[in-house]
Amino acid sequence: MSMRMRMMVMTMAMMMIMAMVINAASDTNKVFQPCTDTKVQISDGFTFGIAFSQKNSFYLNQNLSLQLSPCDHRLPLTSSGSQLSLFRPKVDEISLLTINTTNFQPDSAGGYMVAFAGRKYAARSTPAFVANGTYTVTSFTLVLEFQKGRLQNLFWKRDGCASCASRSNFVCLNKQDCAIRTTSCKNRGGSVDCSLGIQVAFSGTDKHLSSLNTWYEVEKLRQYSLYGLYSNLRSSLTDQYNKIF
Ligand SMILES: *[C@@H]1O[C@H](CO)[C@@H](O)[C@H](O)[C@H]1NC(C)=O
Ligand SMILES: *[C@@H]1O[C@H](CO)[C@@H](O)[C@H](O)[C@H]1NC(C)=O
Ligand SMILES: *[C@@H]1O[C@H](CO)[C@@H](O)[C@H](O)[C@H]1NC(C)=O
Repeated sequence: MSMRMRMMVMTMAMMMIMAMVINAASDTNKVFQPCTDTKVQISDGFTFGIAFSQKNSFYLNQNLSLQLSPCDHRLPLTSSGSQLSLFRPKVDEISLLTINTTNFQPDSAGGYMVAFAGRKYAARSTPAFVANGTYTVTSFTLVLEFQKGRLQNLFWKRDGCASCASRSNFVCLNKQDCAIRTTSCKNRGGSVDCSLGIQVAFSGTDKHLSSLNTWYEVEKLRQYSLYGLYSNLRSSLTDQYNKIF
């Protein structure tokens, strides 16, 4: 190799290493556990969990006015066959989270899911219906709302079944969710891939008070296909629920 060639190769290698360092440095959030408090800035990763269980098991003593975070030990989630999925999207990036249902039947895990993060500042969504023996909902939109970088709330956003209109094998449940018959799903002998897709967007402010705009963008562009913009995050479910405590 000529001297010049070697210099070029070395320069290129150094540039690649620098790019890797810069990329890694853009995630300053050192918290990878969903049940730990943290404050984030734009382009940090943010870890949160989605727990699958029966609706009742997200409430203290099954009292429907006392919903607790899945991080709270008082809930019977470890003993009731609940399943857990963890994700780490980038703050203020639109992400599509997918949960492969080839080996997971959401109705067997209880049929409802709650998104959550934090401990002292615990935030959780309401339980969303995913599936029972009759119907399966495969598409969701979740908004993570932050104030000064601290997660405040997680909201399921519904489009009033607008997306079912063009799909003949979908029905509208409770005027909010498009659902497919569970028997149409591949994991039940049908032909449809009923993997769950959760579109995640952000609102509020990060720890430097910069505003998070992806929810605004998703809402505005909802009728168009955003799939090209997604950074896709896949998760396989873990049954090791104890791990997060
Ligand atoms: C549920 O909790 C609320 C608020 O603490 C309380 O007022 C109510 O009596 C409880 N209901 C039952 C059935 O225990
Ligand atoms: C789900 O997992 C199965 C088996 O691992 C695989 O064949 C299939 O392609 C996956 N589906 C998606 C949508 O990733
Ligand atoms: C499944 O859920 C739908 C919608 O909530 C409900 O109408 C139906 O009765 C449920 N079916 C079973 C078998 O629980």
